[in-house]
Amino acid sequence: MDITLPEPIYAGELSQAELVGAARRTLREHHLARISGYRATATQFIAFVSEFGYPLTYYGDTAGSHPDHQAIHRVRYEHDGSERGELHASDGPLTVHSAQSLRDPRPPYFCMYMVDAGWQDRAFGLNGESILTRWEKVFELIGVSHPHEFEQLRAAVTAEIPFPDGVSRALAYPLPDQAGPNDLGIRLKYDLLDYLRGLDADSPGYRAVSLVAETAPLAAWHGQLRSGDLVLIDNDRWGHGRHEVSGRRVGPNGRSDNPRELWSVTLG
Ligand SMILES: [Fe+2]
Repeated sequence: MDITLPEPIYAGELSQAELVGAARRTLREHHLARISGYRATATQFIAFVSEFGYPLTYYGDTAGSHPDHQAIHRVRYEHDGSERGELHASDGPLTVHSAQSLRDPRPPYFCMYMVDAGWQDRAFGLNGESILTRWEKVFELIGVSHPHEFEQLRAAVTAEIPFPDGVSRALAYPLPDQAGPNDLGIRLKYDLLDYLRGLDADSPGYRAVSLVAETAPLAAWHGQLRSGDLVLIDNDRWGHGRHEVSGRRVGPNGRSDNPRELWSVTLG
């Protein structure tokens, strides 16, 4: 199932108020807005996203924060951080997940701004391309691929399951402005599947999360954000992930690190 995104709004000469207005209109219709040609300092970026919600730090942890604003999660390869296993500093792919999946109430929006797209000379799927999954379409697909298990699956995703922080919650939750039977909010932590597998690989919760996670890339837009692209998504309705990206390479002139840099902010 191909998921298309709304046409990008070109930031060009638009004032912040005009840009906010245009993004709001697109968000209302698509639960996602895309902007191109965006250039901002950390302060300007925070001023823009603050129009949509309060910029949250990562559960109060500032590792990977932008020095000028701690709510900006600066995703770029850093060798030492990568060696320490810090996600924001590491290369490799990221499976589709929700922003701050442990937080309640759910943060309604998540924003990504590609400051520098970095190296783009490998085959598609190896340059840190984004994956944006529309959860409603995931359930539509599962309804078609697993018609006999669908009701069981719905029951399993709306029942409480253990999360890695020791708290039980449902993967799926109702939305106040739900538009259809499959229009559910989803909180998918990137390591939830591994965690559930470790607990009980035969549990209905594990099987349901596994089906949702494996269907996520099939009901998604896969594309490269260019430098200056910004995407604002409804964090209940859209998941985000990343294709493979390399952090460091060794060439004839020695070692170099990928200049790719993405800023993300979760809005509460
Ligand atoms: Fe994320």
